[in-house]
Formats: sequence, C-alpha cells, structure tokens
Amino acid sequence: MKNIDARFCKMKYRSPRAWTTVLLCVLISGRLVEAIEPVCSSLLLGTGVAALGRKLYHYLYETCNESWLNFNAIGLKNDLNTKLYGQHVAAEVIIKAVTGFMNNKTPKKPLVLSLHGWTGTGKNFVSQLIAENIYEKGMTSNFVHLFTATAHFPHEAHIDSYKTQLQEWIRGNVSICPRSMFIFDEMDKMHPGLIDSIKPYLDFYDNLNGVSYRQAIFIFLSNAGGENIVQVALDFWRDAREREEIQLKDLETALSLSVFNNKNSGFWHTSLIDKNLVDFFVPFLPLEYKHIIQCGLAEMVSKGHVPDKEVVESMARDLNYFPKEERVFSMQGCKVIPSRLDFYI
Ligand SMILES: Nc1ncnc2c1ncn2[C@@H]1O[C@H](COP(=O)(O)OP(=O)(O)OP(=O)(O)O)[C@@H](O)[C@H]1O
Ligand SMILES: *[C@@H]1O[C@H](CO)[C@@H](O)[C@H](O)[C@H]1NC(C)=O
Ligand SMILES: *[C@@H]1O[C@H](CO)[C@@H](O)[C@H](O)[C@H]1NC(C)=O
Ligand SMILES: [Mg+2]
Repeated sequence: MKNIDARFCKMKYRSPRAWTTVLLCVLISGRLVEAIEPVCSSLLLGTGVAALGRKLYHYLYETCNESWLNFNAIGLKNDLNTKLYGQHVAAEVIIKAVTGFMNNKTPKKPLVLSLHGWTGTGKNFVSQLIAENIYEKGMTSNFVHLFTATAHFPHEAHIDSYKTQLQEWIRGNVSICPRSMFIFDEMDKMHPGLIDSIKPYLDFYDNLNGVSYRQAIFIFLSNAGGENIVQVALDFWRDAREREEIQLKDLETALSLSVFNNKNSGFWHTSLIDKNLVDFFVPFLPLEYKHIIQCGLAEMVSKGHVPDKEVVESMARDLNYFPKEERVFSMQGCKVIPSRLDFYI
C-alpha cells in the first residue's frame, strides 16, 4: 500500500492525467461511497475527500431541486424586455403567465402555453429564454424536452406507437421531476390523434395513476394563426397606428378562431381548445425592418464582432419583405440572419 501511495504521490504532481485520475476518484467515491465502498476511496482517499466528492458530484449531476431548478422572475422579465425584439404583446403575456404559475405553490393544472406566429419571429427563442430562467442548464437540462413533429413523429402509420411512447415519456419524466418542461414544435404538423393523447396530462386532475402533472409546463409552437396576426398588424400599419398600440385583445379572438377553423392545423378536431386546456394563446407579430437591424446587431455581438450598423443595414436591405408593394414585414423574420450575416462581415 505504501508503494502505491508513493508512486501515486510522485506522479500526481507531474502529469495532468494523474490529476484527472484524482478527480475521477473523488467523483466516483462521492457517488459510490455509501453503496459499495470503492477500493479507490478506502485505499487513497479519506472520508473527508469522499464527502467533498459527494458535493462535487451533486454539483455536476443535475437533480430536480433548488440546486438546479430556480425560477428567476427578474431574469425572465429582463430577457424578454431586452433580448426579444418587437414582441411587446408576447413578452407581457409570457411574463405574467410564467411568473404567476411559478409563484403558485398549488397550481390546479399544468401551465399550457400556445405560441403562434409568422416564421422567424421568436417562438423557439422565447421557449429557450423561459427554460434558461427556470433550469440552471436551460435547454440542455434533462428536465426540458423538445419534440418536433416532423422529426419525432414523421409517419402517420406509426401513430399508435407514437401515442404510447409519448405518453410513457411524459409519465416517466414527470415522475422523475414534477417540474418538467415539454416543448412541442411544429404543433400544426402534429397528428390530431397524437395531440389528443396528451390531453389528460394538461387537464385539472389531482393525479393520474399516482403521478401529478400540476407542476409541469407544456409549450406548443406553431405558425397556425400567423396570417391572421399579420393581418391585424398590417391593419394597424395602414391606419398609421403605432405597433405598440396593438393589444392582446386585438389578436386573441382572431387567433383562437383561426387556429380552430383551419383544417390544416394540427389543432383541428382536437378538443384542446374547446376544453379550455390551453391557458394562454400567445401571438407573435411579424417583424419589421427595424427589428431585423436589432437582430443583426445582436447577432454580430454574439459572433464576437463589433456591432456595425452599416454591415447589418446592407444585409437587411437584401432580405425579402411583404406585402410586395409596401414591404413592411420580413418574410423570414430574424431566422436567416445568423447564416446571412456571414456574407456581409
Ligand atoms: N423577436 C425576436 N427578437 C430577437 N431575436 C429573434 C426574434 N425572432 C427571432 N430571433 C432570432 O432568430 C432566431 C430564429 O427564431 P426562432 O427560431 O425563435 O423563430 P420561430 O418563431 O420559432 O420560427 P418558425 O416558426 O420558423 O419555427 C432566434 O434564435 C433568434 O436568435
Ligand atoms: C438536491 O438533491 C440531492 C439528491 O437528491 C441532495 O443531495 C441535495 O442536497 C439537494 N439539494 C438541495 C439544495 O436541496
Ligand atoms: C424522458 O423523455 C425523453 C425524451 O425527451 C425520453 O427519451 C426518455 O425515455 C424519457 N424518460 C422516461 C423515464 O420516460
Ligand atoms: Mg420555430
């Protein structure tokens, strides 16, 4: 044993590999010390180090409690007010909805948000900001689940196996962590039967087979209703009214009806809406030239460049805008900026 100690001591100050070994030992002993008392810890490391290892392990291993899960209301508000451009209605609804839900110790049902709007207006971006202000690890958290209709559930023929799989995933993950978040992207491309299969989890049940879903968060993303939202924004623009005058009530009715009535939307024929399972329909406005500039400047900063208005303007001018004559709204929103900008820098 002395030999091992001596050799170990000699090498540990020299090679980085030795340090990795030490760290690994510390980690492993922290993880296993209670269970099988590993050789590593009895031979080389005292119980003090094992305790340190346990701390380190919990520091690195995500758990479903306050160490990894901490809602930051101020952070969310700041992010939505400073990083999200041109979406005053969505920002306000989301701040209220998420803050209210997270501060409620005994919610009656899970939070269900449905985000709607034209492409590239910030729906995925907002989901990311919400996740970052709840989970320490943001979108990479083990408790945040992103499902994309075309990627996860592509074949209509397999709908029945998708249903059982999805239900099992939701049940399994919520029993591991009640504060789980499920994001469904391309909701308008999802099979109505599949949407109906998750309905029980969104409802006012105390528990289903011993699992309570009331702490969970469901976010649906889609372009459904996007055209109606554009129409409202365009009407305001043509009447020379400020975009900031647009209120939720100007968009709400048009939105829920259009989502409901559009046969091409995944919501068609599902009872999500008539059963009032969606708590908030959140409209995303189409973005204007000035928002493209804002996105472009932010993108330059995130790429590590000094923000240059001229560069961003020359990129923004080359993008497509609609309607054809008036060129008010960006066709692709801010979505193409990361790739486009490279050609102008
Ligand atoms: N309103 C916005 N404010 C700031 N950045 C934005 C905004 N909208 C989009 N972006 C930027 O553009 C990227 C793409 O947007 P995002 O993926 O959120 O669009 P989307 O609404 O989900 O579009 P789609 O309907 O096509 O999925 C984001 O990661 C973000 O960097
Ligand atoms: C979080 O959970 C882990 C394991 O369940 C526990 O060891 C740790 O002390 C907890 N942290 C807090 C802050 O409760
Ligand atoms: C949790 O969800 C993921 C998909 O995001 C899935 O792969 C995993 O099997 C689920 N876990 C459980 C315990 O059901
Ligand atoms: Mg998206």
